[in-house]
Amino acid sequence: MARLRPVTGGSFARPVEEDRARRPFRNREGTAVTDVTTDSSTGQARANAELLREELVRDLREQGAIRSEAVAAAVATVPRHVFLPGETLAAAYAADNAPIVKSDGHGLTLSSVSAVHLQATMLEAAGIEPGMNVCEVGSGGYNAALMAELVGEHGRVTTVDIDPDITERARAFLDEAGYSQVEVVLADAEHGVPGRALFDRIIVTAGSWDIPPAWLEQLSAGGRIIVPLRLKGTTRWISFDRDHTGGLVSRGYGLCVFVPFQGAGSHAERSITMEDGVVLHLDDENVQLDAGALRAALHQPRIERWSGALFDMPDEQMLFLLTNDPAMALLYADQPVIDRELLARPALRGVPVLVGGDSFAYRAARPNDEMSSGYESGVYAHGPAAEDIADRYVGLLRRWADKYHRRGAASIQYLPELATPPVPSSGVITKRHGTVVVTWP
Ligand SMILES: C[S@@+](CC[C@H](N)C(=O)[O-])C[C@H]1O[C@@H](n2cnc3c(N)ncnc32)[C@H](O)[C@@H]1O
Repeated sequence: MARLRPVTGGSFARPVEEDRARRPFRNREGTAVTDVTTDSSTGQARANAELLREELVRDLREQGAIRSEAVAAAVATVPRHVFLPGETLAAAYAADNAPIVKSDGHGLTLSSVSAVHLQATMLEAAGIEPGMNVCEVGSGGYNAALMAELVGEHGRVTTVDIDPDITERARAFLDEAGYSQVEVVLADAEHGVPGRALFDRIIVTAGSWDIPPAWLEQLSAGGRIIVPLRLKGTTRWISFDRDHTGGLVSRGYGLCVFVPFQGAGSHAERSITMEDGVVLHLDDENVQLDAGALRAALHQPRIERWSGALFDMPDEQMLFLLTNDPAMALLYADQPVIDRELLARPALRGVPVLVGGDSFAYRAARPNDEMSSGYESGVYAHGPAAEDIADRYVGLLRRWADKYHRRGAASIQYLPELATPPVPSSGVITKRHGTVVVTWP
């Protein structure tokens, strides 16, 4: 069976328009430089790298990933190609390129160098200032070098990774690029880096199931954590500030994909195979699913319902759907399933699915010129109760379009204690050490 889950990369928050890594970059004289590898020993290669950095900064500003002069200056300064030996210069400076550094041999990526547009977005969210003490969880070298530029000569940067191959690489590249002041630590970051705390900023670069107590203990009073947190089978980078109760409250978030957090904090998420090539992912252990009944439903003809509401911002709409009905899960199908027309294309990348006993419904979209986005949302539903479950889903689609059609509409809190909701609520997600509460004000 083909892989059903994305394993690495960057962010889904913006469409991937084009594989920039393969587009020949031309310098100001019009010479294509894609064939220049990252061997920067020649003056020409160094000059090309500088031009590529300038173009990268322009691109990232246009995309909205760079918003401050400080992050622009850092990206314009750090030689990313030094951290990516073997990549062409153009690939090293492509905004969406997230080269895999290490995988487990079964298709799971263990380490990658994150896409620079995502690194810039998270650094902007972090708001790192000169003189700060900053910790990066998950190393590669490049991002830590950007942080070193941001904290300046009076600040401190620590980068910690669980994998000795990765720390060794990071140390070597940081030294080569001139950032030997960055401290590279080999450790399971579940326990933080107590010897270097307190941190003003902690930036996590692996998909984390929870926020370990050590991160809160090692965060300064006015500190901020930026963490790719697993929520209902998807990952959101969330920028959290401390609130007055000792918990955390979000300042911003975005959909992203990161390699999984390993070690003591790793977590096996619940997934249920409906049939070969069709998998359901859900967080909540208490939601009972009858895989046999759902398989039977899958083979019954589908009905469709259209909401009359616009389809837009799939990442924002998805977060709303996943956190507004306890029976909402994620449905993934592989290409052969789509080709057999058992399920429609939205299931290929994962789509919110509402499950009720022997029936289920998932989100669809169709062109509609009357909508400002050009698309209308709807659902496809299967099973004996398809009509009811489709109506329930359409109600959610309309509510989102009516009240929450904007970026950042949710407020996300992290309570460092295990809280039980008074009534079952999909917006309250119990983790190992604490509770995530997603509300829609
Ligand atoms: C996406 S890569 C790091 C990317 C790098 N920070 C960058 O921005 O290019 C994620 C890293 O997290 C590391 N990692 C996973 N679990 C960890 C843990 N428990 N403690 C420390 N590092 C961990 C992996 O070994 C991997 O190298």
